[in-house]
Amino acid sequence: MQGRRIVLGVSGGVAAYKSAYLARRLLEQGADVRVVMTKSAQQFVGAQTFAAITKQAVLVDLFGGISPHTELGQWAELIVVAPATAHSLAKIAYGISGDALASTVLASEAPLLLAPAMHTEMWMHPGTVHTIDQLRRAGHTLVGPESGELAGGDIGYGRMAEPEDIAFVASCLLSDQSLIGKRVVVTAGGTREAIDPVRYIGNRSSGKMGHAIAQAAARLGAGVTLVTTSSLVTPAVIERVQVESALEMADATWRASAGADCVILAAAVADFRPVAVADVKMRRADGAPQIKLTETPNVLAGVVSMEPKPFVVGFAAQTGSLEEAKRKALSYGTDLLVANDVSAPERGFGTDTNEVTLMWPDGTEDDWGFSTKSEIADRLMALVASRLPAIGGGGVVAN
Ligand SMILES: Cc1cc2nc3c(=O)[nH]c(=O)nc-3n(C[C@H](O)[C@H](O)[C@H](O)COP(=O)(O)O)c2cc1C
Repeated sequence: MQGRRIVLGVSGGVAAYKSAYLARRLLEQGADVRVVMTKSAQQFVGAQTFAAITKQAVLVDLFGGISPHTELGQWAELIVVAPATAHSLAKIAYGISGDALASTVLASEAPLLLAPAMHTEMWMHPGTVHTIDQLRRAGHTLVGPESGELAGGDIGYGRMAEPEDIAFVASCLLSDQSLIGKRVVVTAGGTREAIDPVRYIGNRSSGKMGHAIAQAAARLGAGVTLVTTSSLVTPAVIERVQVESALEMADATWRASAGADCVILAAAVADFRPVAVADVKMRRADGAPQIKLTETPNVLAGVVSMEPKPFVVGFAAQTGSLEEAKRKALSYGTDLLVANDVSAPERGFGTDTNEVTLMWPDGTEDDWGFSTKSEIADRLMALVASRLPAIGGGGVVAN
């Protein structure tokens, strides 16, 4: 999203308060954000809030400058309307300008992402149903609404999608859809091998690298299944399978990988697990236990032996030298091995940054240097997309 020009349109619903956070999320991802608000929206959040967050003047009045709506509409690479009220959606659907927001949308050729928010009755009303149908047929993208708590404490359908999900779909619309029609499986996080009902043998993997890869793949249009042990949140377009142990990780990964185009194994899976799990919590009074371990299934070996074999990317976390990773790259049957030294500062487990070396089965290597996990994920998925045979088909961008 670095440097991409996004207009955020805010109309008059209670969810307007969440749009301030959405503006911040878009800015954090590097976008250049300008805001246009309806008069009603200013009943809910002041224009000053958005001006302070974006450090840009907010367009609220059509008749302030020379032609502010055409200027803003032509500037935009993407317009996001969040919240999109029933009123503003209808105006956009039927080409009724008349205020700064609708006029900007009508004066733009940029793709349009709409995040409807309203009470269930308003959403179900035949007028709104027609409006939404019209907007979809015009090729605009909708994200949400979802069910949950609505204004006034009611529970039902019509709640605006979460800002993270809106920001994610926005990033999809600004990306080339080079993985459309592809199925990608990603594993993430460190497994936990139970000793008793409260204790486990684990590792320090946070799942950040795998989650970033899953998002990067979905952004390029792939259908993504993420098998994870992590509690990090994922955008709604990613199918998430939550697991804990190596056995669960193996089972879920192998199931999801059947027929997949690409499998990326970024999880830190335990090599050994306790042979027996105590039924009740072990007591100090019983003395130090002798815990007998047994090997866990080899998730990677299972995936590389699949027929047809997907494009397999393995991750190798090493401490110190990458020699062991080199051996794995030549012998494990991966199409690509991504090695990193997790003992180096700001690299590996738990950090937002990493340094990876790509190792190909023919022995060639490519050091990508120090970078954020999100940048590595985007670069890796662009590389994978260039290696997979092109096919057509539908993507995952919400509509
Ligand atoms: C407290 C309150 C909450 C409202 N929430 C919504 C809402 O979530 N969605 C919606 O479509 N309209 C909502 N409305 C009604 C809109 O504010 C009203 O239709 C307004 O004309 C929308 O104008 P705009 O689309 O130009 O911003 C709400 C009104 C009030 C008073």
